[in-house]
Amino acid sequence: MDKPKVVLGVSGGIAAYKACELLRRLTESGHDVRVVPTASALHFVGAATWSALSGNPVSTEVWDDVHEVPHVRIGQQADLVVVAPATADTLARAAHGLADDLLTNTLLTARCPVVFAPAMHTEMWEHPATQENVATLRRRGAVVIEPAVGRLTGVDTGKGRLPDPGEIFEVCRRVLARGVTEPDLKGRHVVVSAGGTREPLDPVRFLGNRSSGKQGYALARTAAARGARVTLVAANTTGLPDPAGVDVVPVGTAVQLREAVLKAAADADAVVMAAAVADFRPATYAAGKIKKKDGQDPDPIVLARNPDILAEISADRARPGQVIVGFAAETDDVLANGRRKLERKGCDLLVVNEVGERKTFGSEENEAVVLGADGTEIPVPYGPKEALAETVWDLVSERLR
Ligand code: PMT
Repeated sequence: MDKPKVVLGVSGGIAAYKACELLRRLTESGHDVRVVPTASALHFVGAATWSALSGNPVSTEVWDDVHEVPHVRIGQQADLVVVAPATADTLARAAHGLADDLLTNTLLTARCPVVFAPAMHTEMWEHPATQENVATLRRRGAVVIEPAVGRLTGVDTGKGRLPDPGEIFEVCRRVLARGVTEPDLKGRHVVVSAGGTREPLDPVRFLGNRSSGKQGYALARTAAARGARVTLVAANTTGLPDPAGVDVVPVGTAVQLREAVLKAAADADAVVMAAAVADFRPATYAAGKIKKKDGQDPDPIVLARNPDILAEISADRARPGQVIVGFAAETDDVLANGRRKLERKGCDLLVVNEVGERKTFGSEENEAVVLGADGTEIPVPYGPKEALAETVWDLVSERLR
């Protein structure tokens, strides 16, 4: 089989050096990559590097190898175009359909999915001109990943940093796998909760659970690749990298998770509750470490009920037509318990998965049955958590339509 053809557009920003890592991941995973830098990108990383890493010729202008008509062919033959980093200037030229170098010509002739990973200073990203250009590109079907927040060139920090190359690679992989030029969640805002809440007993100890956050992160990553604006409310997911283009809101307890979910859900088209939320919390919090008392039994831990966030947002939808998805983590009588839970929680879809000490929690795979409030039952076979996430978004997307 021919290798999938990827065009890696690189524009002139300091983050151009990170595109080398993206290029390496793309080539090592079996893609034929043609790098098309802008002239200014070559101030940061030279043509020799791109050519050596990709194994393909590199040019910035339409005047090289004219007999091969590269300004048309490269775009026509591509299965995916990804521009990383995409500067404010490149976004503007793409949005306005300019064709003054090889990259912009390629963008005009490409009929495949296009992903932009912007990187620039916060002021440039927030400028209405850039925001309108991004909106135009998204309206036309391009996936424009939200920049990450962090250290920028120089001493300043803020939104505008190129997302982690590994995460951009994941978006490319998902977009290529779907192979559609019109992302179905384009223009949608979705909220995903992930991880496990921790309910503190004292400054040292907490009641928690085994959720790693991987299933929720897979949901966030796949939604972003399908064009959605994603808010990920992440409970104690230390160690997982922020998915590219996703707004991550870190929380600790169930009460904090509720606050963050309600806030983000106010303008959301869909909310997916993959987080393992504690039903109870210690009724009191000891300001100092609880000491053991010699010769005495420990005091019992008195628990107080936590709010049921899924039931609350399902009963009182922030917007008409908002789609709400819950997860049910069950150890026995899995489907019967799941069906009862769907009834009780009042959500539109409930993803029922079996869990155990070493089952589902923390693993890369999952299997589930997705129950619909309309009586449908869709089994999802054992496979990567991303495959389950894709099925969830297929079902959400159907309902949003
Ligand atoms: O994070 P991983 O390691 O990848 O593991 C994934 C997972 C097993 C955590 C995930 O697939 C999963 O099943 N998440 C839901 C865990 C859970 O809390 O299940 P539950 O059956 O206790 O709750 C049912 C639903 O109600 C869930 O959507 C939960 O988010 C929600 N809930 C629960 C309690 C509560 N007080 N408020 C809630 O909103």
